[in-house]
Amino acid sequence: MDHVRLSDAGDSVIILDQSLLPLEEKYIELATLEDMAGAIKKLQVRGAPAIGIFAGYALAALSKQQCRPKAISSCCGASGSSDEGFMQILQDQGKILKDARPTAVNLAWAVDRVIKAVRVEMFRARQEDPMRLNANAGARRLAEAAAREAKAIHEEDKAMCKAIAGYGLEEIKRVCEETGHNGPIGILTHCNAGPLATSEYGTALGPVLLGSEQGVEFKVFADETRPLLQGARLTTYELQKAGVDVTLICDNMASTVMKQGLVQAVFVGCDRVAANGDTANKIGTSAVAILAKHYGIPFYVLGPSSSIDMNCATGEDIPIEERDPEEIRSKFYEKPVAPEGVRCFNPSFDVTDAELITAIITEKGVFRYPYSDSLTVFSK
Ligand code: MRU
Repeated sequence: MDHVRLSDAGDSVIILDQSLLPLEEKYIELATLEDMAGAIKKLQVRGAPAIGIFAGYALAALSKQQCRPKAISSCCGASGSSDEGFMQILQDQGKILKDARPTAVNLAWAVDRVIKAVRVEMFRARQEDPMRLNANAGARRLAEAAAREAKAIHEEDKAMCKAIAGYGLEEIKRVCEETGHNGPIGILTHCNAGPLATSEYGTALGPVLLGSEQGVEFKVFADETRPLLQGARLTTYELQKAGVDVTLICDNMASTVMKQGLVQAVFVGCDRVAANGDTANKIGTSAVAILAKHYGIPFYVLGPSSSIDMNCATGEDIPIEERDPEEIRSKFYEKPVAPEGVRCFNPSFDVTDAELITAIITEKGVFRYPYSDSLTVFSK
């Protein structure tokens, strides 16, 4: 079952609440813009592609609500009695969703895509009726366009994840062949870039899940990923469920497992890849890349083209989200572990320099350094 989906009625979004995992598998239904933006902020839905898929469905659900009789909906002062009014509300809602988290480009990408699809529908209606230049497509037709686009984003993500998994699996098999590595393949991963963060295969976990289905043996080391423990809570949960051999380590143990020769490659996801290949991903990713370089272990970033932002020249242009200090001071502890009021710095992401990345694996294939050349295929 999809862990992010539009309700049958089409006017709300249903998600598996990731903030409760692995202790509780609970689906929640979100029907208001406030709850939808809140779910993104609170990481009830998380992972770059998943928040994009979610935002697409959120706009589709909110658009459907604009069709309710009498409910000439309003948002931020605009009213939805005409196509223009509908569009204004949709845009205002999209902005609120986009602002919920700044780093993953997929969120803004999906919002813009749905809004554009609705706008195209609006103009199509006008063209069909050239004598009535102000004719409305009507809320129902526009809402249907939003839902169609949101579903397309989701379906495309499934296909992209499958393709990424295939390319990643080929690449790691090639590396093992070249280095003469036999036996289970050791992979270290950071944060969670599995099915929960995307759809179906996931990105960084894709080669592992696909390979396991084909009988390739993996031994995965999952960094716990302080402070929100996506590795401990989500990556181990997903891999255990899939029957993959997984070992949980603290973030500061990555060097030890690499030094002991237990890791043949590092696979991580991405929240935004700049045009030069600099890559934002969960805080701590860049430290793992530096370690991998030190030990001569290939370091791969796996992500869909929706995570590549050719408008960001380098990692310096990527906005980094800063989160609540309590995530470090007290969350997940029975009692706060740090003195009250101590200053904390809690950036949620960091940028890995392009030079440290062996390859960026997307649904379009494997791209290598220098990325300012190889990634130009993603220029519009
Ligand atoms: O803060 P999160 O849990 O949303 O961070 C997620 C990550 O950093 C993932 O690695 C990234 O979004 C890629 S998911 C395919």
